[in-house]
Amino acid sequence: MARIYHDSEADLGVLKSRRVGSIGFGNQGRAQSHNLRDSGVPIRIGNIDDEYRERAIEDGFDVVSIPEIAEQSDVLLMLIPDEVQPEVYERDVAPHLKPGDALCFASGYNIFYRCITPPEEVDTILVAPRMIGRAVRSLYEQQEGYPCLVGFENDASGDALRIALAIARGIGATRLGAFHSSFREEALIDLFAEQMLWAGINRLALTYFEKLVEHGCDPEIVATELHLSGEFLEIARAMITEGFFNQLRLHSHTSQYGQLSRGDRMVPPALQEEIAQIMGEIESGAFAKEWAQEQADELPTLRKLWEQAVDHPLSHAEARLEALRQVVAKAHLGD
Ligand code: NAI
Repeated sequence: MARIYHDSEADLGVLKSRRVGSIGFGNQGRAQSHNLRDSGVPIRIGNIDDEYRERAIEDGFDVVSIPEIAEQSDVLLMLIPDEVQPEVYERDVAPHLKPGDALCFASGYNIFYRCITPPEEVDTILVAPRMIGRAVRSLYEQQEGYPCLVGFENDASGDALRIALAIARGIGATRLGAFHSSFREEALIDLFAEQMLWAGINRLALTYFEKLVEHGCDPEIVATELHLSGEFLEIARAMITEGFFNQLRLHSHTSQYGQLSRGDRMVPPALQEEIAQIMGEIESGAFAKEWAQEQADELPTLRKLWEQAVDHPLSHAEARLEALRQVVAKAHLGD
């Protein structure tokens, strides 16, 4: 059973003598900074000169440049996109780090893959909400918690975990309970979800569409059954409210039997091998290396994959069903 920390084990006092700064004011930066401020932790923002900087000023925060916040903080939250962190770290952060500082990440990626290696005399900590920024803020305002992973890679001060827990409490995560984790675990669960779970669900959904159309079914009717009816949203909702398997009881017996009896055939040995290979590429850093090269080459493969996705017959069927999409979105999401 994972170790779970609650408010009672997280002491905000450990931040009292430390100056806290956020690098970035985007999805996570804005939400976390507001939550920390409302929790009584003074926080300043370091940002480049863009619209996020303007928003931070509008929200009443003191905003300086990134090198300045790095120099003037003892606890630094690294809340800019993972892709730009290594460059920003080398140029604007590393030269200003001093012994006893803490560098806090909301993602395991750059530390696990050694794209960033902070000096040994700096605490390297993880506070990774498993929640989008908007909800990090709204759940805090509703006095609800949300799942979050905390951990540390380097404990130079002897206070690394206490600092991580204080931040987790300040942003409202220990209200529900924060899981003790690691940079490695956060990176693996995140990338494996993206590359196996969501990639697999997306590809299977497309195969469902392609096969039925191949068998003479109408693309618009199949697209409606696939996602535009909103049924999968109801299934996902029921997985949370009823439980992963228990939600099956809301379906007909024919459906229950079909799902339970055919599920294993969806992951035959050859696919299991592919899945193991994807995990291997994630764990060994081969994917991180490939992705770094793709970015250095200015994303040629990603662009091509996007072109294929936009031109897929499902995208065309969806475009023809715009009116239906809007009605369903309103019915299910209130949008
Ligand atoms: P974001 O995309 O919202 O970041 C925007 C911020 O980054 C702005 O302050 C912008 O000025 C700054 N920025 C953008 N490009 C820059 C550059 N080249 N140099 C300097 N600053 C730059 O980022 P987001 O989504 O908040 O992610 C921040 C961290 O939180 C990442 O490590 C991410 O993995 C993690 N995370 C994000 C979640 C989310 O809700 N999106 C959920 C949990 C973790």
